[in-house]
Amino acid sequence: MDHFDYRNGVLHAEDIALPTLAEAVGTPLYVYSRATLTRHARVFRDALSVLPRVKLAFAVKSNPNLAVLKVLAAEGYGADVVSGGEMERALAAGMKADGIVFSGVGKTHAELARALEAGIGQFNLESEEEGLELAEIATAMGKTAQCVLRVNPDVDAGTHGKISTGKAENKFGVPYDRAAAIYARLATTPGLAMRGLALHIGSQLSRLDPLEAAFTKIGVLMRAIRESGHAVTHIDFGGGVGVPYKAGDVFPQPEDYAAMVARVTEGWDVTAMFEPGRVITGNTGVLMTRVVRVKEGVGAPWVVVDAAMNDLARPALYDAWHDFAAVVPEGATIEANIVGPICESSDTFAMGRTIDAVKRGDLAVFRTAGAYGATMANTYNSRPLVPEVMVDGDKWAVVADRIEPATILAAERVPEWLA
Ligand code: LLP
Repeated sequence: MDHFDYRNGVLHAEDIALPTLAEAVGTPLYVYSRATLTRHARVFRDALSVLPRVKLAFAVKSNPNLAVLKVLAAEGYGADVVSGGEMERALAAGMKADGIVFSGVGKTHAELARALEAGIGQFNLESEEEGLELAEIATAMGKTAQCVLRVNPDVDAGTHGKISTGKAENKFGVPYDRAAAIYARLATTPGLAMRGLALHIGSQLSRLDPLEAAFTKIGVLMRAIRESGHAVTHIDFGGGVGVPYKAGDVFPQPEDYAAMVARVTEGWDVTAMFEPGRVITGNTGVLMTRVVRVKEGVGAPWVVVDAAMNDLARPALYDAWHDFAAVVPEGATIEANIVGPICESSDTFAMGRTIDAVKRGDLAVFRTAGAYGATMANTYNSRPLVPEVMVDGDKWAVVADRIEPATILAAERVPEWLA
């Protein structure tokens, strides 16, 4: 459920008519609904309240906008971060350092040291090598790092290959069969306090059974580690719960997910940690765009919009579907190909799709663009970096400026020997 609805034939974000924002800020433009964000944060949190002890760490990568993080901080979310940059954002948004977990296979020496200095709550170690490096830094600083070991459960998440992370051939975590031994070694390494296990098998999962299979395997490992005398008090179940991108698609609900976790973890006696991203932010945003022109084709017409793969990369990268809807639909539909202005064929949002009839100058949105949208934007083809707006009832504000090509050009230098 979201708060992007038609009122008198005009698409609104909460109480704001989208053409108002297009007038004021221009297009392309991400528009977030605060009420939708809050609602999703609460639904997920409330669903998981069936578990005895829960900690929520929002996957910042899905939408790192400062205003978004502020809203989630107020809802009691910590943060799952994967870079020093994300960590600084979470801290800047007022998230408590001890509510931050740091994931990622390539945390650098500098990032590990900064995270220790900031007092972040948990390091999700992705290798023994990383654990040993962190131990050295922590010891030198006179600190102890709270850690969990990320395990690769070798389970097929059944999602797009590029966003699968839990198969043995993926770079993430330590191999399942070696995890107990690595855990035992790290647990006796000064500077580290090993407190549990983590996993994340992939994103945009449409079914719960791969998650259930992976969580069950983690339970077996947890028991083995405990039997060998080491404590396991925390399990970080990662993120991955998918959302419907196509009107009519049916996905597992947060309550279904929570019920599955409760069933699998019955009697585990752990703090259950979660790193939801898309399920919180996906529906929270749309990408608004204006039709530049409609160009005749051999087959269906090309609807050329002013948004492109640099603004919303998901269709180009993962063949992802985003529903497309006119802001002021006239009732008719057409079959069309929707493309951006970038000079490569991957700049295609949809081929041969039945959409609201649109013409030059019309506004439209790509829906469900709140997760992995603006965060993955870039300036390819020397296009501006796409701005973001947040709506809250009848208020709205620009929460990220459009960064103009001139600003980027101004950061470039021609060396003296070329001048
Ligand atoms: N935790 C870890 C360790 C992750 O790697 C991820 C996502 C998450 C949590 C959050 O997953 P979520 O709940 O959002 O599924 N750019 C891709 C998605 C990449 C996901 C990367 N990891 C896309 O646009 O579909």
